[in-house]
Amino acid sequence: MNNDKFTAPLQSLHSSLQLFSQPMLSPTWNPAITQTMTTLPQSHNSIPNPGNGAVEHNHHAAKKPKLGHPISDSEIREEFSHHQRGVARINNGSFGSCPRSVLVAQSACQLRFLQQPDEFFFNVLRGGILESRATVADLINADHVDRVALVDNATTAAAIVLQQIGRRFVRGHFRREDSVIMFHCAYQAVKKSIEAYVTPIGGTIVEVQLPFPVRSDEEIVTEFKKGIEKGKLNGGRVRLAIIDHITSMPSVVLPVRELIKICREQGVEQIFVDGAHAIGSLPVDVKEIGADFYVSNLYKWFFSPPSVAFLYCKENSNDVHHPIVSQEYGKGLPVESAWVGMRDYSPQLVVPSILEFVNRFEGGIEGIMQRNHDAVVKMGTMLAESWGTILGSPPEMCASMIMVGLPSKLCVMCDDDALRLRSYLRVYHAIEVPVYYQVLRNDDRDPRDKDGFITGYVRISHQVYNTVDDYQRLKTAINKLLEDGKICSGLPTEWFARREIKRYMFYSLLAGFGFWVRCIFSDILFTCPLLFCIL
Ligand SMILES: Cc1ncc(COP(=O)(O)O)c(C=O)c1O
Repeated sequence: MNNDKFTAPLQSLHSSLQLFSQPMLSPTWNPAITQTMTTLPQSHNSIPNPGNGAVEHNHHAAKKPKLGHPISDSEIREEFSHHQRGVARINNGSFGSCPRSVLVAQSACQLRFLQQPDEFFFNVLRGGILESRATVADLINADHVDRVALVDNATTAAAIVLQQIGRRFVRGHFRREDSVIMFHCAYQAVKKSIEAYVTPIGGTIVEVQLPFPVRSDEEIVTEFKKGIEKGKLNGGRVRLAIIDHITSMPSVVLPVRELIKICREQGVEQIFVDGAHAIGSLPVDVKEIGADFYVSNLYKWFFSPPSVAFLYCKENSNDVHHPIVSQEYGKGLPVESAWVGMRDYSPQLVVPSILEFVNRFEGGIEGIMQRNHDAVVKMGTMLAESWGTILGSPPEMCASMIMVGLPSKLCVMCDDDALRLRSYLRVYHAIEVPVYYQVLRNDDRDPRDKDGFITGYVRISHQVYNTVDDYQRLKTAINKLLEDGKICSGLPTEWFARREIKRYMFYSLLAGFGFWVRCIFSDILFTCPLLFCIL
């Protein structure tokens, strides 16, 4: 895709501003700061090499610089050396991760603001955000940079879309029988936004049950069609469909293109794709996907600092606004979002530095996605084989996260059990992994292992910093629980576990102290008679 029409004016801007990887060279620049800020690793150039053809959309690949040598394992370790040592982080999906070089660029940007805020506000901020938006527009194949706004996170984007729907109900454009359709496992914040902005004014919610464990796209499509029919009962219309690109819990890649096609055929008015987990783990081509709104977090799988997301709007509408009203209100969503009052805008400004980082990997972001996908499937399969369970979806229905069934003997029987196991793994084994409880449906879909029904799953992630050892530790921790005959309801709560650990540390210290005191006393008892004899 050629985005020159909107990136060309930025080139002069970029070179004149020397954004963030190079601090502003001015007489007031503190050289000590300069030294710390210029410790960015050299940016290596990249050869676009998606590898096996599974990633087809490379509209932005042409812009990748040529790769000198791909980033090495030790350089990757260095980039994530701020991660706490000894923790198996296999939950990139929740909070993402940010490499050191991007953090360095971010703090250069923050310092530059603090050095001369006026100059930054008038001459850097807007141009910088425009450049970041152009980078994203290019990545996602948007028609124009004006279709892309940067917001804090997917929750903000959901508020933007749902407030707009709410206003339509208020103006009487919609009727009470009209509805919003979504899957039952839509993200809680999105569901709550419907509760806050739509249902009090009118409108109903149609929840479609996501089949899980799932075997094929068709199973999902069938359920979705039933939901649309439900939405059309009593002469109602489905005004908005909310479709996750990758659901959060349980995690499954949904067939968005097919679902959107059905929506269009059935007269659904607007479609909002919640792709919170998508960019950096799946190819995102917004033109091909064809939704009216598409959001994705950059901080989850695209290495941005917390927190930034993009919201793509297919049309330029003057009825779409940022939930925080500032002096930019009414100037279009991208401009409104670029100033929501005084705050730290550095996460939005470092997008070009992220691109430099990902282009140090073979195949750039597409290479990263493919390798993460292959690795997470391999690790998921290894765990399922060791535990005698199943994967929650076929490999082609996952990106960089996959659900792995837990042995039925662990008895995950409710959400509380799942939480206990998650806390237990974190506190006693330093393993970060979300655990999911799946209610049984009592039909032939319910999966079994050799001992009973599988009702618990772990959601494992794979990101560039993970090693096989992270997953081996999880395998061993679960197998040890089985060997010891433990079940989830018998595991300590996090509060109890931490108290136990504190108590253990206290007694260890006490024992150490006692030993020390005893040594001193025995010294005295021994030296006193000796002195007496000598004297
Ligand atoms: C599918 C989905 N939607 C929305 C969100 C909310 O994202 P955020 O916390 O960045 O607003 C998440 C968070 O994990 C998610 O998984």
